Amino acid sequence: MKRKLLGALLSTAMVASLAVGCGGNDNSTTPADTPAETEAPAADETPAADAEAPAADASAGGKKIGISMPTQSLERWNRDGAYLDEQFKAAGFETILTYSDDKTDQQVNDIQNMLADGVDMLVVAAIDGNALNTALAGAAEKNIPVISYDRLILNDAASYYVSFDNYTVGKLQGEYIVKALDLENAGDKTYNIEITAGDPADNNATYFYQGAIDAIQPYLDNGALNIVSGQKDFETVATAGWKTDTALARAQNVLSSYYADGTQLDAWLCSNDSTALGVTQAVTSDYAGSNKVVITGQDGDEANLKNIVDGTQTMTVYKNVSNESIVTLALAKAILAGETVDESLIPSFGIECTFDTESYETSAGNKCPSFLLVPSVITADNLQELVDTGLYTMDADGYLKAAN
Ligand code: GAL
Repeated sequence: MKRKLLGALLSTAMVASLAVGCGGNDNSTTPADTPAETEAPAADETPAADAEAPAADASAGGKKIGISMPTQSLERWNRDGAYLDEQFKAAGFETILTYSDDKTDQQVNDIQNMLADGVDMLVVAAIDGNALNTALAGAAEKNIPVISYDRLILNDAASYYVSFDNYTVGKLQGEYIVKALDLENAGDKTYNIEITAGDPADNNATYFYQGAIDAIQPYLDNGALNIVSGQKDFETVATAGWKTDTALARAQNVLSSYYADGTQLDAWLCSNDSTALGVTQAVTSDYAGSNKVVITGQDGDEANLKNIVDGTQTMTVYKNVSNESIVTLALAKAILAGETVDESLIPSFGIECTFDTESYETSAGNKCPSFLLVPSVITADNLQELVDTGLYTMDADGYLKAAN
C-alpha cells in the first residue's frame, strides 16, 4: 500500500494531519476537507510570507520530538532512549525523553505533558498497547503524528510502526532449540522443555511466543519434545511486566513441582533476556540435574551476555536498537517533510528492513504500515559480532559491556 503524504506547500500541521494512523483513512484528510488548506499561500505571496511551509529539510530545525520509553528498569530501553535522543538531537531536533517506570498512568501523563510542551511528533514505546487512547486522542486533536516504536499501539493513533520482525525473533528462538537438541534426529528420544513468555499487555509478546511455538510444534506433535508441566498456553506461561522476579518464581515452582524427582530438563524457551535471567537463576539454584539446559533470550542485555559467556544461558536474539533509532529518525523526517512513506524510503535508511503492510493490526482490525528490522542470533561463538557493531566492548575476561 502506498501512503502519499502531501508535499511542500502544506503547513506542518496539515502534513501531520495526513499522517493518519495505522490503517487510517487517507480520504478523510484529503486537501479538500482539511481546514489548513485555507491557509495555503496565495500565488503572489513572497517566500517570507510562506515561512511556515516546510523547506527541504525543515523536518529538523526547531521541531520538538517527544520520546516516551516504558521503563529504565530494563537495560534495552535505556539504550533505545539514549540512541533516539542522540540521533534526533544530532539531526537538529529538540527532544523530550521520558521513562514511565512501567506504569501506564505515568506514560499517559508523560505524553500529555509532552503535548502541552508543544511537541511536533511523538515516538512512543507503549507499556500497554491498549492504554494510551486518551493521551493519543490529545495528539490527534493537535494533528501530532505518532510513531509506534518497537511495540504496536493498538488504537488507530499511530501513523507508522517501527520495530523488528517480532515473529522472526520467536522463530529464531524456537529454531535454535530444534537445532541445539538435534530434534530432527531424536529417534525415539523425548526431550523435555518448558516455556516462559512475555507481558500480555505488550503486543510483541504474542508474536515472539507464536514464532517460537510454530518452530517447535512439529516436535511436540511427533513426541521429540515434551512440556513436562503441561503449561503451554500463552496466558499460562506469560510474565506480567516482563519481570525477572516473576519469571524466577514461576520457574522455581515448575522445577519443584515437575523436576524434583530427577526428571531431566533439556530446554527452557524464554521470550527475552529479563525473563531468561529469572529462569537461569532458578535453573542454576533449583534444578537437580547436571546436564546443560538450553535457555533462549532476546535483547543482548549485559547480564545475559555474561551468562552466555559463563554458559548458563545459551543464546539471545539480538536487536540492534541503534539501527532502530536510525530508521525511526529517517521515518520521522520523511513524515514531517511530507514525503511519500513506503518501501521506497528503505534505501535511504542504509539498514536492512522490510516495509510490511500486512502483519500488524490495530484493535479495530486496521493494518499498520510497519518498518521491520532484522534480528540475529548471538551465542558464545559469535559475541565478537556485537563488538564489531561498535556498540559493545569486550573486557579481558571476555565479558561484554554496552556502550550506552
Ligand atoms: C518487548 C521488546 C523486547 C523486550 C521486551 C521487554 O516489547 O521488543 O525487546 O525488551 O519488550 O522490555
